[in-house]
Amino acid sequence: MTDGFKVNSIRKDFPILSQTVNGKPLVYLDNAATSQKPQCVIDSLSNYYQTVNSNVHRGVHTLSQLATDDYEAARSKIRSFINAGSDQEIIYTRGTTESINLVAYSFGVQNIRSGDEIIISGMEHHSNIVPWQLLCEQTGAVLRIIPITDSGELDINQYGALLSDKTKLVSVVHQSNALGTINSVKEITAMAHSLGAVVLVDGAQSAPHMKVDVQDIGCDFFAFSGHKLYGPTGIGVLYGKSEVLDNMVPYQSGGEMIKSVTFDKTIFNVLPHKFEAGTPDIAGAIGLGAAIDYVNDIGLDAINSYESELLAYGTAKLEQIASLRIIGTSSHKGAVLSFTLGDIHPHDIGTILDSEGIAIRTGHHCAQPVMERYGIPATARASMSFYNTKEEIDTLVTGIDRVLEVFS
Ligand code: ALA
Repeated sequence: MTDGFKVNSIRKDFPILSQTVNGKPLVYLDNAATSQKPQCVIDSLSNYYQTVNSNVHRGVHTLSQLATDDYEAARSKIRSFINAGSDQEIIYTRGTTESINLVAYSFGVQNIRSGDEIIISGMEHHSNIVPWQLLCEQTGAVLRIIPITDSGELDINQYGALLSDKTKLVSVVHQSNALGTINSVKEITAMAHSLGAVVLVDGAQSAPHMKVDVQDIGCDFFAFSGHKLYGPTGIGVLYGKSEVLDNMVPYQSGGEMIKSVTFDKTIFNVLPHKFEAGTPDIAGAIGLGAAIDYVNDIGLDAINSYESELLAYGTAKLEQIASLRIIGTSSHKGAVLSFTLGDIHPHDIGTILDSEGIAIRTGHHCAQPVMERYGIPATARASMSFYNTKEEIDTLVTGIDRVLEVFS
């Protein structure tokens, strides 16, 4: 039910949204790249630096203890947000990319051998392709790819055919950044587990927009970023099942991740600190906690329902433009509209829209294999969030009409 969704008052929480860009009111439709920040998140960062800035887990002094409390409280909020079993299963990273690299370089190097197989999908972001390619080069393992159907869904039968006792790891995106498709990660996980493979879910695009329950999905790892979830840049999360993380070697080493060090032997710290070498992004973690509080106050169900309404509205509007082709037409997708417009280059579309104050992303969206699948070099992509409005979608449509006029 979105009748009561108070988008106009929500917009007031985001100071950046009230500005003009190129003389026009900003219409920000690049949320899949990064989201805007509510005032409470901005305040949490400056409050931290103004009142408790100190290093965590290191000092007996009051500020260090206050900083540690806030930093660990944020971890608990994240744990609850994705329904992980314990705070120990929440590892702070720099973002989704680092979370995936952590798994590739720790779990992967430790467990993947020549002849083993890793399955990813044809709709992965480069950050869920390249770490596995490097791991395959290093170990002699083989990368297998789940193909995409014409509507932009994963071909689950083909996935079943790829799975075998050689499969050691499956890493798939929850919601595609380029197509918007939401994948059946629970089913994908169950199928992989039936053959003993470990599963990583890339949740960069899903965690900000839908309720995630990692225990219900059953995945071994779940990765996401703070900055797409209305939090700061530079902070992200790797969830891992504690029994899997316990058996993994550290990814980076140094301070914080140790229990004791002598020149003969180092004993590693317990989870999650074993994977958090060095001084972390303390302010970022606290800011992410504030973002989660903010999202929880609105409610992910309300957010999801409102964004679905925006998607339906935008899809119907764009479908009326004769030369526009939507790339990614699954019936199960998030609020992402990737499109081409005749043979007008997406870069030109983005530039003209920018002159109208409309921010979209153009290019391959770090998902070049998706572009190859559809035989196109790039798309223009409008990605929406709960602070967007139907009026902004109307402005986008007017902007696209302007692009068509320029190229007529
Ligand atoms: N992965 C982000 C995007 O799709 C940056 O724009």
